[in-house]
Amino acid sequence: MQQRQIPFGKPQLGDEEKAAVAQVLSGPMLVHGEQTAGFEAAFAERAGCAHAVALASCTAALHLSLRARDIGPGDAVVVPAMTHVATAHSAEYCGAQPVFVDVDPASGNMDPERVARAADQAGNVRAIMPVHYMGLPCDMDAIGTVAARHDAMIVEDCALAIDATYDGRKAGTLGDTGCFSFYPVKHMTSIEGGMLTTNDDTIAARIRKLRAFGYDRSLGERAEPGVYDIDALGLNFRMNEVEAAVGLAQMAKLDRFQEARAGNFAALSEALADVEELTIFSPSQGKAQSSHYCLNVVLPQDGSIARRDVVAQLKEAGVGSSVHYPVALPLSRYYREKYGYKPGDFPVAEWLATQTISLPVGPHLADDDPAYIAEALKSAIVKVCG
Ligand SMILES: Cc1ncc(COP(=O)(O)O)c(C=O)c1O
Repeated sequence: MQQRQIPFGKPQLGDEEKAAVAQVLSGPMLVHGEQTAGFEAAFAERAGCAHAVALASCTAALHLSLRARDIGPGDAVVVPAMTHVATAHSAEYCGAQPVFVDVDPASGNMDPERVARAADQAGNVRAIMPVHYMGLPCDMDAIGTVAARHDAMIVEDCALAIDATYDGRKAGTLGDTGCFSFYPVKHMTSIEGGMLTTNDDTIAARIRKLRAFGYDRSLGERAEPGVYDIDALGLNFRMNEVEAAVGLAQMAKLDRFQEARAGNFAALSEALADVEELTIFSPSQGKAQSSHYCLNVVLPQDGSIARRDVVAQLKEAGVGSSVHYPVALPLSRYYREKYGYKPGDFPVAEWLATQTISLPVGPHLADDDPAYIAEALKSAIVKVCG
């Protein structure tokens, strides 16, 4: 096969985004404008929720979700041990303590039984943050039961889960808030950016206030220009109009992007189905349907095949890859030193951290790229195994 160069992810930006940005740049409103309002309306409609609030990032959405319910010192927040650092950091920003639980070896999602045990043990749990790992929704029925027992809010980390569904409902509408990311290699991009979804009017109003310093009046509500009071410790977490314009233009293409992802995922997983050395999580489990962010393959737990060697071979074949995520979060230096976690505390998360490889399935792939990627991976394993 001829050598190719296939990046892990590649933003799909075209004339539509360029025209939308040019229009914003030639107008007077660079923040607080109609692009942001339009993006929020389109996103809420697609997610099937009452409110969508555009923010600077998914991290901002996670952080403000907890702040909206005044979660802080003395409170505990349950998070999975296998996630991006933003999930746990959002609890830390509030002065709350993240309580980590290991994940399910069949999905990489937080294990509901461990969530229940951790919540019962901690006693002061105010929030549970299910992370839909690689876009596959968590077991939200079981997590909902635990949350209700502890009167805890549910903050869904949907950074990789746009359009994923659980029991026919969209991710982001399954808890109190949903937090989405538009970082460049996500399902769609707004350069940087995030969106918070909710059906709760009070939370939505509070997030709008907290994203803009805690002003008591938005720009449009000020009878006297420039005059306002401040009644909350808000931040500057707004999305600007250039980002919103890009996001809105991307939404018009999202159906096409999602179709391509699903097709590439199916072709790649079928081509790898007979590779005994690999664990591949099914994109459809129980009531959960994945958004096909990427295809994670996991090498054996015993370390008999070293990921570093396989990735080096893939790179040589021109196949880009990534790792989600490179460390079981409680064992990262910050959390290990602060809370004293040690190797062996989170065996499944530790296995994924050392042995998973994320393969591309994005809309940037050519029709026969999935077959090429599968062949490259198979021959990499053969070479590494000698
Ligand atoms: C699960 C998860 N949560 C949160 C984030 C942070 O998103 P952002 O960069 O938009 O803040 C990421 C980033 O990749 C992620 O993977």
